[in-house]
Amino acid sequence: MKRASALASLLLFSGCQKSQSTLYPKGPAADKIAHLSWLMLILFLAITVLMWSLMMWAISRRRGSLAEHEPVEVGGGQGWIAWGGLAFPLSVLCVLFILGLKLMASFPVHDIHHHDLHPSIAIIGRQWWWEVQYLGAPAQRFTTANEIHIPVGQPVDIELRSLDVIHSFWVPTLHGKVDLIPDHPNFIRIQADQEGVYTGTCAEYCGAQHAHMRLVVVAQQPADYEAWVQGQLQPGSQPTAAAAKRGEQVFMAGPCSMCHQVRGTLAGGRVAPDLTHIASRMNIAANSYPNNDAYLEAWITHAQSLKPEAAMPNLTQFNGQQLRDLVAYLRQLQ
Ligand code: CUA
Repeated sequence: MKRASALASLLLFSGCQKSQSTLYPKGPAADKIAHLSWLMLILFLAITVLMWSLMMWAISRRRGSLAEHEPVEVGGGQGWIAWGGLAFPLSVLCVLFILGLKLMASFPVHDIHHHDLHPSIAIIGRQWWWEVQYLGAPAQRFTTANEIHIPVGQPVDIELRSLDVIHSFWVPTLHGKVDLIPDHPNFIRIQADQEGVYTGTCAEYCGAQHAHMRLVVVAQQPADYEAWVQGQLQPGSQPTAAAAKRGEQVFMAGPCSMCHQVRGTLAGGRVAPDLTHIASRMNIAANSYPNNDAYLEAWITHAQSLKPEAAMPNLTQFNGQQLRDLVAYLRQLQ
């Protein structure tokens, strides 16, 4: 719980508005994209200023009424129309197009055989959340959801897949959009140059709750990251408090365990987010709501109000005591 609130305050103080902006790149890939964006912005501003100046100049030189003007001769001395109206914009757009293509080619997005791609994380798009699988040696594998931790200053290769419709991975401060396509893995290399929490949103319309399909990337110092990995590798913690113990029974006997997994227990469902370390995450419902007692209770009983059409049903069968016990169990799954 302590770690989750520390992370949440980091998110607050890192400036929410900047944590999801292409204008504040925090990694090499986003840097390249931002450079091109600024180049385009400055170039287009310069051209706009030039065009307005020319127009003002023409207006200021105009004398008399329209009727007094001689008809404009087309053909003689009008070469500037071809240069200014065709050749100039065409060459500017061509240069930008080539720069854009070069930038895209520098990202090994579609190249499964790219020699130095070593995905250490697989992200699987689901309606409407992100399954996050940490790959590697069998003893190093674990699954989590919606919150991706990476070591700061190191490139991390990610394989992007989808189990249902097309989604799009977009953490603007770290990389451009890359789609998650069923039966067609894509790859992305992200690197965060500074410690921090970087937010993203699904960037491809994928159904009713597309806007509530958010993700968070937490870049940590290598030692903190390693500690997080070791924590995530552990099975779900055994409850010790009485309420949490009762809550575990409610969880295992009720419908929760059919869809959710808590490693080390009988709950082995794989269709919904892995809850083994749910208490360590900042938010719930694909980062749509804060992870606290009130929202957990609300989510369990009224998921269809908080996130209509999500796979999580409204579980109204629990009495108040059972609900509080259930939340107590979830909150100790650090
Ligand atoms: Cu997933 Cu939009």
